[in-house]
Amino acid sequence: MSDETPPVEIPSVDITVDGETVAARPGELLIDACERTGTYIPRFCHHSRLEPVGMCRMCLVEVDTGRGPALQPSCMLPCTPGMVVDTESERTRKAQDGVLEFLLVNHPLDCPVCDKGGECPLQDQTMAFGPGESRFVEEKRHFEKPIPVNENVHLDRERCILCDRCTRFAGEVAGDQLIHFMDRGGQTQVNTFPEQPFASYFSGNTVQICPVGALTAAPYRFKARPWDLEEVESTSTLDSVGSRISVQSSRDRVLRFQGVDADAVNWGWLSDKERFVFEAYDHADRLATPMLRGDALGNRAPDGDALVAAPWSEALGVAADALSAAPADRLAVLGGARLTNESQYAWAKLAKGVFGTDHVDAQLGDGLPAEVVLGLPRATIDRACTPGGTIVLLGPDPKEELGALFLRLRHAVVHDGATLVELTPRRTGLSAHAAHSLRVLPGGAADAVSAMFGGGSPAGAAGLSAEALAAAGATIAAAVAEGRPVTVLVGRPSLAEAAGPVVDAALALHDHLPEAAFLSLLRRGNVHGALDMGLAPGLLPGRVTLADASGVSSVWPTVPTDRGHDAIGILEAAAAGEVDVLVLLGADVLADVPDRDLAERALANAGTVVAVDLFGTPTVARADVVLPAAAPTEVDGTFTNLEGRVSVVARKVTAPGTARPDWAIAVELADRLGTDLGFGSVDDVLAELAAVSPIHAGITPEALAASVREGVLVEGRTALARPDRTEVPVNDAYGLRLVADRSMYDVGVLVAHSPSLAGLAPGAVAGFEPSDLSRHGLAEGEVVDLIADRGTVQVAVASDPGVARGTVHLRVNQADVDAGRLIDASAPVTGIRVGRR
Ligand code: SF4
Ligand code: SF4
Ligand code: FES
Repeated sequence: MSDETPPVEIPSVDITVDGETVAARPGELLIDACERTGTYIPRFCHHSRLEPVGMCRMCLVEVDTGRGPALQPSCMLPCTPGMVVDTESERTRKAQDGVLEFLLVNHPLDCPVCDKGGECPLQDQTMAFGPGESRFVEEKRHFEKPIPVNENVHLDRERCILCDRCTRFAGEVAGDQLIHFMDRGGQTQVNTFPEQPFASYFSGNTVQICPVGALTAAPYRFKARPWDLEEVESTSTLDSVGSRISVQSSRDRVLRFQGVDADAVNWGWLSDKERFVFEAYDHADRLATPMLRGDALGNRAPDGDALVAAPWSEALGVAADALSAAPADRLAVLGGARLTNESQYAWAKLAKGVFGTDHVDAQLGDGLPAEVVLGLPRATIDRACTPGGTIVLLGPDPKEELGALFLRLRHAVVHDGATLVELTPRRTGLSAHAAHSLRVLPGGAADAVSAMFGGGSPAGAAGLSAEALAAAGATIAAAVAEGRPVTVLVGRPSLAEAAGPVVDAALALHDHLPEAAFLSLLRRGNVHGALDMGLAPGLLPGRVTLADASGVSSVWPTVPTDRGHDAIGILEAAAAGEVDVLVLLGADVLADVPDRDLAERALANAGTVVAVDLFGTPTVARADVVLPAAAPTEVDGTFTNLEGRVSVVARKVTAPGTARPDWAIAVELADRLGTDLGFGSVDDVLAELAAVSPIHAGITPEALAASVREGVLVEGRTALARPDRTEVPVNDAYGLRLVADRSMYDVGVLVAHSPSLAGLAPGAVAGFEPSDLSRHGLAEGEVVDLIADRGTVQVAVASDPGVARGTVHLRVNQADVDAGRLIDASAPVTGIRVGRR
């Protein structure tokens, strides 16, 4: 289902620009109207995604609004009917020349050593509009050059032209007002307060929008000049938002990702993780050659059964032998969210259409059932962010997991009058702006939803009164009554809470609010593409079930008839010795499956483990056959974001060694098994997808090229699954429930291989609501045992007023403390006892 609003006829306002009549939009700023209709007015402080401030005066033009011509800042002036504008008059030119002369009074002559040189608006506009020479002979001001404002951003205050873009971004967009103007007069400067670095997940955006070389990104400093760079527009595959990016490289190495302003998606903004993760793809640790475990090679291994490099032919041969010897119901494929849509389709065809197994799951026990994600009415980001709309958050903190989406949501709530209702176990990055921010116990969201709409007691909502829940329900009901859109953001708020209780709450919201649309907050890369391609049990490409194999049956040799295991089922089967070959498509199960014990038992008891990956993760180190794959900057293809928006992923550099695209690995494996998948190129795969999946019929190279920035929205729903309601055990008075969630930075493989990000992981502490801390007699910083049925970890405790009473909060994937040791994937919630040491 699409929620894209149909084009509306917008009335226009006629104005005259340099003698020509042009049509402006009502309320449109003059500088934007001129640019849109072909007249560029120079500017420094103006940015179309920030509130206008009129700081720099570079955009002065002569405007006559009926009271005679006068110089006016065009970035502050909304167009009005009959306005006459002269952007080339003598007065306009003199004003622009004067502004530039003033700006250059204190600007250093740094161009030869400045990272902005060659892409600098100050250079360009000085050439085009400035004075030919300087009359300033006095000493310029000097500041220490440069100072770090955080780990990745450096500030050279001498070059700053005080445009207020970085400070406005930090306050208006990110909500991290940690850089400010300080001092007065000629000493005015941008800076941070002592002991308060610019600790923002989004700081790299200030570098991108700084119109001069005052803010520079440490990973790019002195690496290249713009004329050395080649670029291609692509899609960030780091998370499921699918932000549009420009991939910039020099001499076959990626040097920079820049945000691209896709109106429907990221508005040009990136999280620092999206921006700097290119370092991981370029890392020397990338797998560059296949490897085989010694015992798979007979006596060739020099040291027992270590992994040793092998030619592709030999590695593919070992994998194919194992695959051909295994019955279909003893084969399983886990992972695939890293892959492009085309690679996912090729692997779905290989696994389901050639192997004949349905034990396939791209989610790793950390997501939601595919038939629920694909069965609920789907929202777009724009729909969720409709001015005046209502957003219900039933999922993880978008600020920690989906950075660019967080910025869009924050804008909607803070600047566009959207109303936010949160049902989360812990305070989120949006809570300060929520109309109702309700802390819910793990397992209790469905009860809370019932109580919101007047049906039942708020048993699962820790410390929440029936009144608070009813007030939140009334807010939503009022929005519905007024015809304002309601969008539910649904995902797993805690990996220590099974999907079942979240699904129950989402379905309850769907029942109470049939008009509401849902935006899935599944985080992992192209996970939504994977579901659309059938990399989930019971599904085939095109959001159809196994029962509807009519699309693929003409081109797939076989189609499974029985629904297979999901990820947890696959791992349980492997742990029980019932999986002969386990294929891992970029699946680091030891890090990503919430239940660490299960992941270890599965790897230990699976027959042959074939890992297709970028890095030698601890999981890959346990595999028998390792096949190196190409990274997102090294492949062509497409990506499907959380809205169902398909956009282009473009190859920019060469993969290391002999690493190759995942789809090509599937083709070669099939070949070894005597089947021709029929793909010689990415376009071949896309053409077959469009032929077998009606919802992808419009996804053609031509359609993608015609909508390269916004992508193409795929519409269509699977029949909505309604799993049995999950029974959640009652929490006793002294028991605590674990909330285990992700943070932006962790010790995951991509962050760990990005030097700019690796040091930013916050580490693990056990967060207790203050009254729980005193109830258990704990002191801040004290190291305790957190004891679950599954295992015990030692961790320091901290007081955290943001967590629900009756819960313990722990971040997953942090150094030293493995939250996965506590989690039992078969339990709906994870109970915790505290042991004093
Ligand atoms: Fe030159 Fe621009 Fe750098 Fe200033 S900011 S030194 S004008 S390149
Ligand atoms: Fe503008 Fe850059 Fe100075 Fe910030 S540092 S005020 S973005 S010139
Ligand atoms: Fe208009 Fe700066 S761009 S005042």
